[in-house]
Amino acid sequence: MAMERIVIAGGRPLSGKVRIGGAKNAALPILGATLLTEAPCVLREIPNLTDVAVMLSILEHLGAKVEVKGDTVTVEAATLTSLTVPEHLMREMRSSIIVMGALLTRFGKVKVSQPGGCDIGSRPIDLHIKGLRELGADIEEKHGYITATCKRLRGTSIHLDFPSVGATQNLMMAATLAEGTTVITNAAKEPEIVDLQNFINSLGANIKGAGTDTIRIEGVEKLHGTDHTIIPDRIVAGTYLIAGAITGGQVTVENVIPEHLESLLAKLREMGVQVETTGDSVTARVTQQPLRAIDSLRTLPYPGFPTDLQAPMMALLCVANGTSIVTETVFESRFKHVNELRRMGADIKVNERTAIIRGVPALSSANVAATDLRAGAALVLAGLAADGITVVSDIHHIDRGYVDLDENLRALNARIERIGC
Ligand code: UD1
Repeated sequence: MAMERIVIAGGRPLSGKVRIGGAKNAALPILGATLLTEAPCVLREIPNLTDVAVMLSILEHLGAKVEVKGDTVTVEAATLTSLTVPEHLMREMRSSIIVMGALLTRFGKVKVSQPGGCDIGSRPIDLHIKGLRELGADIEEKHGYITATCKRLRGTSIHLDFPSVGATQNLMMAATLAEGTTVITNAAKEPEIVDLQNFINSLGANIKGAGTDTIRIEGVEKLHGTDHTIIPDRIVAGTYLIAGAITGGQVTVENVIPEHLESLLAKLREMGVQVETTGDSVTARVTQQPLRAIDSLRTLPYPGFPTDLQAPMMALLCVANGTSIVTETVFESRFKHVNELRRMGADIKVNERTAIIRGVPALSSANVAATDLRAGAALVLAGLAADGITVVSDIHHIDRGYVDLDENLRALNARIERIGC
């Protein structure tokens, strides 16, 4: 519901535990990869998010059978009725481009609406297109649609100019059913790429190297079905840890893979947060306030600091002692939260891709709007730390990537409500 808002009475330290569910950014490409096989795929820990719902609508639109039971989703793409992703579905979620590689390699044809720009800067797909061409696809861009056709794709060497997550995933899927060997160099190394490799290999494919910058795929003729559990969401986990820190509290995230959070944990420690990890949980505890500013925080491809945690982290730096410098190197314009944070009393200057944040003793509540998914999370966090009542609008952005954010924060002792209006 577009008109819902989140209302927060800030100033209360969080404390407690929260269990982290499956990662949106692993679930979306893996749902796309179910199109590689005619056999049923059972996927567990699929988060109940609006982006996932859009992906399921795309699969159904194409003619796949989709069954949802809680967070277990079964997809059977035995026979499809369409190979076109229409404009309205593409507009709802830009990452629907991720179905291209799988449809093309299995059926020899795919048509997708050209993805438009989005609120964090232009997000080109040139690397996807170039790689698919190198695998032997004919690609035409006309009337707002991209049409790709091929006989059987042929394995080849593909070097990515930038380690794009989506391009790496799309090309991995396309190469799975290609003839011969494909080697992708300068590949993205995100944990979600490893999860995709594990999923596709469990269908009978032969992929090695995900998690390093070179991925080698030996094409196979046909794949079978599987049962796969999605990895936990490191960005959601990171958001709760930062939420704990910004309120001077203590939060434990359970059911996580702590190594996936290392770049964040290093920065939290640098700020003076006490961090403890066990096999599958992380606790962040603040024993002394204020926390220290960070000289330099740069977003980078994994294992660097994730761009998806830049906005939440900036909210935390707003109340640290001293001046922090944050550089966004992954996306062009991902500082939309800055203006909203300023409304809450933050002192931030932006020069192109760099933000200079002078810590203030406290934020003050305001009415603010979520401009995108992670910006929305940042504003909720800022509201938890501010005095008085903060109202965050446009929270449909938040529902694209966080399951029950308000409920989970309430269980951690926050005074937070979702209201209709
Ligand atoms: C994925 C994540 C997103 C995250 C991002 C970076 C999903 C569904 N989304 O997005 O949450 O913020 O990784 O970690 O997994 N680029 C090109 N040409 C291309 C493709 C990308 O220039 O063909 C550029 C983009 O404009 C951007 C950068 O590469 O500046 C990173 O994009 P990419 O890694 O592809 O991100 P996504 O896969 O879209």
